[in-house]
Amino acid sequence: PFTNRVFSGIQPSGDLHLGNYLGAIRRFVPLQDTHECIYCVVDMHAITVWQEPEELRRATRELTAAYLAAGIDPKRAIIFNQSRVYQHAELAWVFNCVARIGWMNRMTQFKDKAGKNSENVSLGLLAYPSLMAADILLYKATHVPVGDDQKQHLELTRDIAAKFNNDYGDSIEANGLDREFFPITEPLITGPATLVKSLRDGSKKMSKSDPSDQSRISLLDDADAIAKKIKRATTDPEPLPPEIEGLKGRAEADNLVAIYAALADKTKPEVLAEFGGKGWGVFKPALADLAVSTLAPMAGEMRRLLGDPATIDSILAEGAERARPLAEETMRDVRRIVGF
Ligand code: ADP
Ligand code: NA
Repeated sequence: PFTNRVFSGIQPSGDLHLGNYLGAIRRFVPLQDTHECIYCVVDMHAITVWQEPEELRRATRELTAAYLAAGIDPKRAIIFNQSRVYQHAELAWVFNCVARIGWMNRMTQFKDKAGKNSENVSLGLLAYPSLMAADILLYKATHVPVGDDQKQHLELTRDIAAKFNNDYGDSIEANGLDREFFPITEPLITGPATLVKSLRDGSKKMSKSDPSDQSRISLLDDADAIAKKIKRATTDPEPLPPEIEGLKGRAEADNLVAIYAALADKTKPEVLAEFGGKGWGVFKPALADLAVSTLAPMAGEMRRLLGDPATIDSILAEGAERARPLAEETMRDVRRIVGF
């Protein structure tokens, strides 16, 4: 009963970086040829930790500019921000009442973000995966392209869909609806760079929320900054191995090869076939050239788009107009199923 529909979202919080691009945004683009695509700016997720209001508005436009500059076409894909379609909040509440607290407590991202202070973070931070399930299931999305760090949240989305379908099974049937009311959504975690690591420390992921990490490549960096960051990236003294097995135990080397492969639309073995046996003095400049040629024009286009915020705002408004009827179609059924 489900079409091929893709949903994914990114938080407008902090600096967009190369990990967001390779793990998510870059992979959104070709899906426009094969699927109906909905790409969301999840501003309601962002406020699970404090955001300055003006900064949130700026970051919302910046992420929208990144989507557009990367090649997402607002005539084909739906691009909008979450807070403009109230059904996200409404379905999230229903899911808060379907999901169990124990499921939320097991989320590693919550544990990481809450740290030792778990009594004094927002309730929203704990409930985050329930809102994420609502984002996806409101559109009955069949596929969700994300980075590897979102795998556990996607599993929870599947659990929530299954529990809703089961708990309300009789009511779903009584309302003449398909027993599998919500799809069991498939994550799309593919390609060579599903988890880009920090260029300073290969044991950490590249992340928006680590302000001390100066090595992070921002999507607004210019050519000079990109090249410098690659030149300074931590490496070991060994040359690149000819085979993929040779990357085991070499997190930094593995990460740079993965980044090269993702930017070149190649596999890691293909990259090693070209660079195996060569040293960093050869590989790093090649990677810098490749990264600059992809990222610097995108940064320029983002800056150009950000010079015209009214156009960005109207793209988001049009996207919300297109998303709303799809969301309402699901919510109309959900309200009847639940007994509202
Ligand atoms: P962040 O994790 O940077 O705070 P989000 O949680 O908004 O950003 O994630 C946005 C998208 O970017 C998600 O699909 C996430 O999986 C992906 N992503 C984030 N960091 C990385 C990374 N280091 N490598 C690959 N993908 C990433
Ligand atoms: Na993330």
